[in-house]
Amino acid sequence: MHEQFRRDCVEEVGLQGADAALTQASREWVNKANTKKYSYYFERLGRPIIQYPQDIIAMQELIWSVQPDLIIETGIAHGGSMIFSASMLELNAVSGGPKNASVLGIDIDIRAPNREEIEKHPMSKRVAMIQGSSVDPIIIDQVRAVALSRKRVLVCLDSNHTNDHVLAELEAYAPLTSIGSYCVVFDTIIEDMPAEMFPNRPWGPGNNPKTAVRKFLETHPEFMIDKQIDHKLLISVAPDGYLRRTR
Ligand SMILES: C[S@@+](CC[C@H](N)C(=O)[O-])C[C@H]1O[C@@H](n2cnc3c(N)ncnc32)[C@H](O)[C@@H]1O
Repeated sequence: MHEQFRRDCVEEVGLQGADAALTQASREWVNKANTKKYSYYFERLGRPIIQYPQDIIAMQELIWSVQPDLIIETGIAHGGSMIFSASMLELNAVSGGPKNASVLGIDIDIRAPNREEIEKHPMSKRVAMIQGSSVDPIIIDQVRAVALSRKRVLVCLDSNHTNDHVLAELEAYAPLTSIGSYCVVFDTIIEDMPAEMFPNRPWGPGNNPKTAVRKFLETHPEFMIDKQIDHKLLISVAPDGYLRRTR
């Protein structure tokens, strides 16, 4: 019964993704919402999380299905996404999943009040943080050393959104993704937005996470874009950013 329901959903989601009017309306909605800073108004267990609710739902599905024992996240900010991931790992653990799973966050600037709140949070037992640039070879080595001892690794990239930075992050961290798991690249949506939305940013259309994903995939056939997730969400900051490692 449930399997049939799932098969029906796959078919219907495909049709949803092929609906040009619906995808266009979703894109217009995202562009309008972005002018209101829509992604800044949500929290996870008391910490601000700079994500769209739709992507948060997609991530909880992935964390449940992959059952990672390590989640690597670049870009901590207030810690909301890290606390979210840690809380999902906690739920996995009480449901029979990996007992000692944890999140490793990397940020070039972990502000003192954010660090303090993260460290005293009930989920902090599943969180470790490294301060430094995610593309600094010393930091990459530290992350690799942690990943070495883990069995199932999921990666999320959400720091500096320029093409060169994300491409360097992909080269450094995507290979740590376990087969069957995901490397999720956030803010690929920038490619699809008007340039005037990013007046004071080094990124914009032509120079962003999606351009990095395209370049990366040219030489990494072991990853494929999970279009099913895009077609399901429709509203997402990570279109073409849910990369599944297939081999
Ligand atoms: C969009 S925020 C992260 C949001 C967070 N993932 C969430 O959902 O709540 C981006 C973060 O990336 C960090 N950042 C910028 N450049 C970086 C770099 N070179 N290495 C690591 N982190 C960087 C910033 O300090 C900022 O905290």
